[in-house]
Amino acid sequence: MRNHPRFLIAAGPTHEPIDRVRYIGNRSSGRLGIALAEAALTRQLPTTLLLGPVESDRVPEYSGLNLVRFRTSADLEGLLRAHWPDHDLLLMAAAVADYRPRTTTSAQKIRRGEAPLTLTLDPVPDLLAACAEASRPDQVLIGFSLEPKQDLLANARSKLLRKRIDAIVANPLETMESESITALLVLAGGVEQHPGDTVAPLPKRDFAEWLIDRSLALWHSKRRP
Ligand code: CTP
Repeated sequence: MRNHPRFLIAAGPTHEPIDRVRYIGNRSSGRLGIALAEAALTRQLPTTLLLGPVESDRVPEYSGLNLVRFRTSADLEGLLRAHWPDHDLLLMAAAVADYRPRTTTSAQKIRRGEAPLTLTLDPVPDLLAACAEASRPDQVLIGFSLEPKQDLLANARSKLLRKRIDAIVANPLETMESESITALLVLAGGVEQHPGDTVAPLPKRDFAEWLIDRSLALWHSKRRP
């Protein structure tokens, strides 16, 4: 039996093309996911980082890291399908689009006109739920829920159940683009775990160290129930 889990971490935004030059994106910086990859590598654990379109000075060059880039939710969907079977823990920190433009290959560049333009958006499948459905019993999946403070816990809990994952990081919206984070982990059984005694914001690197340790504990507990 394997003693060292292999981490699969997805981070950053998705860019969903409107035409050949435009896209719909979001403001995810990828910082937390990159910090998670660093923390896993520090523990000498094999780590694959699926990284979306983030600023080039943020792309990590850690030795031993298996770095794979994606741009769209469709790219990420294919990468998860290919990589998840060979990994043990999935940390799904990517900010996946909920909707993407319905495009045609002929749309090279939409031209300006006088009439209003309507884009049709199709829902993006839930990639994390699909991974959960395709999982082995020994694999651990952790999601991230970015929500306004007042709805944080209720929405995190409903996502945890809907996606059938092992745990979810409840993350207030204010965390986006920030260097620090005030978040907690909600486990499938309902238990809440906090990174410290206080609710003070933590640097994302410290939070990442804590979360990697919590996820390792979850992985071990799943193997020895
Ligand atoms: N997620 C995913 N596929 C999507 C959307 C989200 O895998 N199409 C993942 C995210 O990476 C995150 C978790 O699901 O780990 C929660 O994402 P979030 O956007 O907060 O939730 P949604 O499922 O999109 O639900 P809602 O639109 O109600 O916020």
